[in-house]
Amino acid sequence: MDSTSKRELLVSKIENGIVIDHIPTGKAFRVLRLLKIEPDARVMVAQNVDSKTMIRKDLIKVEGTYLTSKQIDLIAFLAPEATLNIIQDWDVKEKRHIQLPKHVEGIFKCPNPLCPTNAPYTPSKTIFNVEKGGRIEETKLKCTYCGSVTYYGPVLEQLTKDDFTIEGSGLVSQEKIERVLLDALIKGGALRFPTTPHETFILKSGRKSPYFVNLGALTDGESLAKLKWAFASYVSLQIEKGDLADFDYVFGPSYKGISLAALTCEGLRELYGMKKRFMYDRKEEKGYGDLTADKVIVGAGYYTPGQRILVVDDTITTGATKIDTFEKLHLLQDHKIVGLIIAVDRQEKMGDAEHVEAKSPTENIEEELGIKVFSIQNIKTIYSLIKEGLDPEIKRLWLDYYNKYGTVKLES
Ligand code: CTP
Ligand code: ZN
Repeated sequence: MDSTSKRELLVSKIENGIVIDHIPTGKAFRVLRLLKIEPDARVMVAQNVDSKTMIRKDLIKVEGTYLTSKQIDLIAFLAPEATLNIIQDWDVKEKRHIQLPKHVEGIFKCPNPLCPTNAPYTPSKTIFNVEKGGRIEETKLKCTYCGSVTYYGPVLEQLTKDDFTIEGSGLVSQEKIERVLLDALIKGGALRFPTTPHETFILKSGRKSPYFVNLGALTDGESLAKLKWAFASYVSLQIEKGDLADFDYVFGPSYKGISLAALTCEGLRELYGMKKRFMYDRKEEKGYGDLTADKVIVGAGYYTPGQRILVVDDTITTGATKIDTFEKLHLLQDHKIVGLIIAVDRQEKMGDAEHVEAKSPTENIEEELGIKVFSIQNIKTIYSLIKEGLDPEIKRLWLDYYNKYGTVKLES
């Protein structure tokens, strides 16, 4: 066996997957880290191996994996001369010379702190136009939002930081969404608690509740920005996980649901590039106009039969309002409701002050109408966060209320 064949055995051939070849020496592990390959993937990394075209090179082989275009763009910045080989059935099916892309979307941060892409809650996705120079170091990236220019050096620095994550992917988590929503609710006064045990809130059901959820209290721009971020991120995460089916419209039941639906719709477009429309119902039917649906549902003019609808709202108290909403949607004729997303689940059973039914309104909607209900926050979580600071008498109100009406038990 000649020395080349012997050396090839150092890194064996693969059946299916990718080979990133001709990586500048010493960069393979950095590239690998950027790719965020699952821990159970089969990976081979070779550093400082002989090359026909370079003196030495690094290479990475990943079995059974393909790269997204975003990942390839990332590699281009770190290893601009690399070759990407797609291996199928032991053969090199495709060989691509990785090049700097013309535009990079949602990867790098804009250096301008006032750029809309750096807004704290609803940052827009960055888009940079890449202008190549004679040498790679002369590459310029120009932000399409604010025109700020950044260079290859600082960009590479961002890429090689340990905590580097791609915008819109690693950054969104269920926990963060829950936290942002709760923060908006508490700071904006949408979640009210009694200051004395005599100050309970009387609900539509007649029950005396130790707290009150009212998203209508959120009237400042900062809270609305948080709501937009939380709802849009929640929706996109559920779709990504496969728990929520895709849809065409976001519907908001009047009145509180209207702004939520508009915010969600806008957030989905801005943050996740999802183009949806928005609709809401009128409480009083309009007395003129020719479309039956349009008299009751604003936005129905664009609706085409068969389209799918996502409903968003603040909370469910008795469930009656939601049932009315779903009734109204029948005016659209052939339609499908893919789900109902509420900000806070009160986790209590239907009924009134005296009567407690077996089911919660959430279960009722799921069972009777076959509509999946999702809640971003729930009262058990909120209680667990506030319980330490509760006055013992007020804590008793919470425990009694949930013993009597709850679908969950609270811990004292
Ligand atoms: N490779 C592999 N498994 C296969 C086929 C190829 O791991 N079933 C690897 C080879 O070891 C090599 C790379 O994929 O590192 C590209 O393969 P090939 O085009 O055959 O090699 P070269 O001619 O050396 O490529 P280049 O011209 O890009 O230098
Ligand atoms: Zn910018």
